[in-house]
Amino acid sequence: MIIVTGATGALNGSTVAHLLETMPASDVAVVARDSAKAAHFADRGVEVRTGDYADPTSLPAAFAGADQLLLVSSNDPQADALALHRNAVEAAVEAGVGRVLYTSHQGAARDTPFGPGRDHEATERLLAESGLAWTSLRNGFYAHSLTWFLGDWRETGVVTVPADGPVSWTAREDAAEAAARILLADGAHDGPVTLTAPAAPTFAEVAAIAADVAGRPVETVVLGDDEWIAHQVSAGQPEPMARFMLGMYHAAAGGFFAGTDPLLGEILGREPRSVRDLLTAPLEATGH
Ligand SMILES: NC(=O)c1ccc[n+]([C@@H]2O[C@H](COP(=O)([O-])OP(=O)(O)OC[C@H]3O[C@@H](n4cnc5c(N)ncnc54)[C@H](OP(=O)(O)O)[C@@H]3O)[C@@H](O)[C@H]2O)c1
Repeated sequence: MIIVTGATGALNGSTVAHLLETMPASDVAVVARDSAKAAHFADRGVEVRTGDYADPTSLPAAFAGADQLLLVSSNDPQADALALHRNAVEAAVEAGVGRVLYTSHQGAARDTPFGPGRDHEATERLLAESGLAWTSLRNGFYAHSLTWFLGDWRETGVVTVPADGPVSWTAREDAAEAAARILLADGAHDGPVTLTAPAAPTFAEVAAIAADVAGRPVETVVLGDDEWIAHQVSAGQPEPMARFMLGMYHAAAGGFFAGTDPLLGEILGREPRSVRDLLTAPLEATGH
């Protein structure tokens, strides 16, 4: 039995959809905070259990019988993610789960300026110390979030950043499919695996790809931190979110998202999607 948390979300929802292409629904269960949000899986014969990392008493029964448990990482920047993940790992031990797979992030490290990267590294340590068999899926930065990072470049021809560095922008869909394949391979990977697209362009290089795709110049402007925060706030971004994202740019500049790994392409049996694919698709969709 494969049990999946976060299946009401995009990443693990897509992984479950891939699992159901080859597995009987009776071999899959999903754990949701609100079971109504997982009704589309129940309709396909998937058992829906209720569980919330914030309510540790809900978890051992939700995880019972899992040969493999795919644990989503918390998506709440305000939450104590590590405390939530600790509840989940402890429940997995109590439930006697065969293997935990955890959705981590490339650049998980104690000293990364990107806050979630520190939580991921600490969660991986919890897993390593738990006695469980575990795999940490260190996914590349979601490529679709470039839409946010690049801002209104299509109108202005400018990409404004507080720091620049390479990022292995990776399609969330590719990471989701790879997770399904790893689950189906049943324990083929121990510990952290890095799942990235094959290239890690800097923002300046992404701007050059954007310019090529759009057929117009796109320049990158690097502002100081305070100036960049003020720029984001004036563009309508809440200041706490801008400060949260600042850490991402500094982690990029520090090389935390720089590495690429051929494993994702090997698992998928095809080339992972690229930044150019991402920037081209919306143009095709809108007919520009
Ligand atoms: N690699 C990257 O660039 C990147 C970028 C952003 C996020 N992430 C991480 O990747 C994860 C998956 O991404 P996604 O796009 O699928 O996010 P998403 O669509 O926001 O889904 C997050 C899922 O986590 C569940 N969840 C949140 N808190 C929970 C809790 N306390 N107990 C149990 N389940 C909980 C949510 O349940 P509900 O439906 O009940 O809310 C939802 O199903 C995120 O959670 C985040 O940690 C990675």
